[in-house]
Amino acid sequence: MQNFNDKVILITGGGAGIGRAAARQFAALGARVVVTGRREEALKALADQIPGIDYVVADAASADDAAATVQTVIARHGRLDALVNNAGGGAILPLADANVERIRDIFAVNVIGPSLLATAALPHLKATRGAIVNISSTFGHKAAPALSHYAASKAALEHMTRCWALELAADGVRVNAVAAGPTETEFLTERMQLSAEQVEHVKQQERGRIPLGRRGVPEDVAPWIVALAGADAAWLTGQVITVDGGLNAS
Ligand SMILES: NC(=O)c1ccc[n+]([C@@H]2O[C@H](COP(=O)([O-])OP(=O)(O)OC[C@H]3O[C@@H](n4cnc5c(N)ncnc54)[C@H](OP(=O)(O)O)[C@@H]3O)[C@@H](O)[C@H]2O)c1
Repeated sequence: MQNFNDKVILITGGGAGIGRAAARQFAALGARVVVTGRREEALKALADQIPGIDYVVADAASADDAAATVQTVIARHGRLDALVNNAGGGAILPLADANVERIRDIFAVNVIGPSLLATAALPHLKATRGAIVNISSTFGHKAAPALSHYAASKAALEHMTRCWALELAADGVRVNAVAAGPTETEFLTERMQLSAEQVEHVKQQERGRIPLGRRGVPEDVAPWIVALAGADAAWLTGQVITVDGGLNAS
């Protein structure tokens, strides 16, 4: 089992879902973990519950918050070993309903935010020969109707993963992504803003399409984030690992 003693991990969107599960697993392996989110309550609850986790209230879509978040991590802990770009946004958005605000909101959190955080984190990741783990989706490389902008934003994140991996390899910074399949979190209600009825419909459809017969839980995805951030993955960069019950292969 990997050891993260003395390592410092920054996870965006760590107050719930996949980010929270990853934060718990990193902390259990000895890491000091800083999670971000816009609502303090969930972050504080997690930090109060788990030693080794603290938080910064920050919007992963905000350019100002990106630099300030990394500065806070360094001021508190003096180093950064891995950046997990987990916070994401999306919408069921048929082309007929697309408008500039909705498209911009999706790309702000899924593409621009991770880029600016990576830029701010870079000198510190070079210093530790650290890692970036980006969180994508099956739909970052599988087409789906009414998801074009979410899917394209995750496709951009996957391709940035490969480009950054080449760009940063000489500095010893590894860059990989985990592409999650449909996972039981607040994503459908909070991020996609679907009604309870729509959520049930989507879930039913997804269960039928996933070869392993169920939607995932955050604990299915988190170990792969941890694995890519740590020394066991020392010779692995530029990869997108799809963790989705076989949906991508179907
Ligand atoms: N769940 C799925 O089915 C699924 C499938 C494929 C890929 N993914 C990807 O996995 C990642 C995590 O998804 P999840 O389902 O675990 O998310 P989630 O449960 O909807 O949200 C996790 C956390 O992210 C925070 N967050 C959202 N927007 C943020 C922002 N702009 N800045 C900072 N924090 C933000 C939320 O807190 P606040 O609202 O307080 O900020 C929340 O605590 C996303 O990138 C998503 O695209 C999810």
